Amino acid sequence: MNAVPWQRVAVTGAGTMGRGIAQSIALAGYKVILHDVSTEALKQSLKQIHRSIDKGVALEKVSESQADLAKAALSVTTELEAFDAVDLVIEAVPEDKEIKKDLFARLDKIAREDAVFASNTSSLSINVLAGTTQRAARFLGLHFFNPPHIMKLVEVIRADDTGDEVVESATAFVKSLQKIPVHCKDTPAFIVNRVARPYYGEAFRMLGEGQATIETIDSLMRSIGFPMGPFELVDLVGCDVNYAVTQSVYDAYFHDPKYRPHPIQRRMVESGRLGRKTGRGFYKYGK
Ligand code: 3HC
Repeated sequence: MNAVPWQRVAVTGAGTMGRGIAQSIALAGYKVILHDVSTEALKQSLKQIHRSIDKGVALEKVSESQADLAKAALSVTTELEAFDAVDLVIEAVPEDKEIKKDLFARLDKIAREDAVFASNTSSLSINVLAGTTQRAARFLGLHFFNPPHIMKLVEVIRADDTGDEVVESATAFVKSLQKIPVHCKDTPAFIVNRVARPYYGEAFRMLGEGQATIETIDSLMRSIGFPMGPFELVDLVGCDVNYAVTQSVYDAYFHDPKYRPHPIQRRMVESGRLGRKTGRGFYKYGK
């Protein structure tokens, strides 16, 4: 296995994905800075990461010393300028092209010239994001899955100008997190989210047509071996994230009807029923 040439990693975006990614990286022995614009989000994130690391210890997945080192290796900041000396930046901010483009353009001026940038985008083009920087050879996608501290798969997405050595280093880095890298081309939604679109889409259509209930569809999918039914999974990922990814894939494929979002998705988002994170999605959750 190639050695990983990176020691200091920065993650921007302290939502579910950014938090879990930062936790996985700290547990693998890297120094990690987690950035967000909100001090409150960072405070909550740090609490949740510590709680999750402690749970890992209780489950005997993480040793006491690994947990202590990981907690010490993780710092938080609201200042992007703190990224001036890192080797790798992983972006995990909301799935909005303009927000990501603006962020990468700013980061390009702050980070070292030889630092590598990775986006955790679910569906946006890595080429487009790389185009906002002067470092297309050192830009790629690293797409983690929710819950990121548990799911093993990471899609490693090469854009047109990504250097071979950057892909090799990223592959070694993902393995060092005890995760499984899968190489993908820069096509809309890469592999997993593209294959998953019909899984969600048909479930929404069936629900909309009154063909079966949420509970029936979920339990049937579980009974044939899926770990979660489509509605449980949307509640885990977030109805807002699921809707944003669907819209982005639909746009990227020039409104191919097979990717069309369903009105149920919009209704869930507009009514604030975002899933587990708001306590209400297709199901109700306790605190
Ligand atoms: N630290 C370390 N390990 C932990 C942990 C922690 N804090 N919490 C749990 N674990 C371990 C458990 O010990 C267990 O390990 P084992 O398999 O070796 O026994 C494993 O993680 C599973 O934990 P649980 O027993 O608590 O949970 P479940 O067995 O109920 O599984 C699940 C939960 C992993 C979420 C499973 O239901 C699942 O795989 N669901 C599908 C998730 C999925 O498809 N995600 C992708 C969504 S799409 C996406 O993210 C893309 C984006 O772009 C939108």
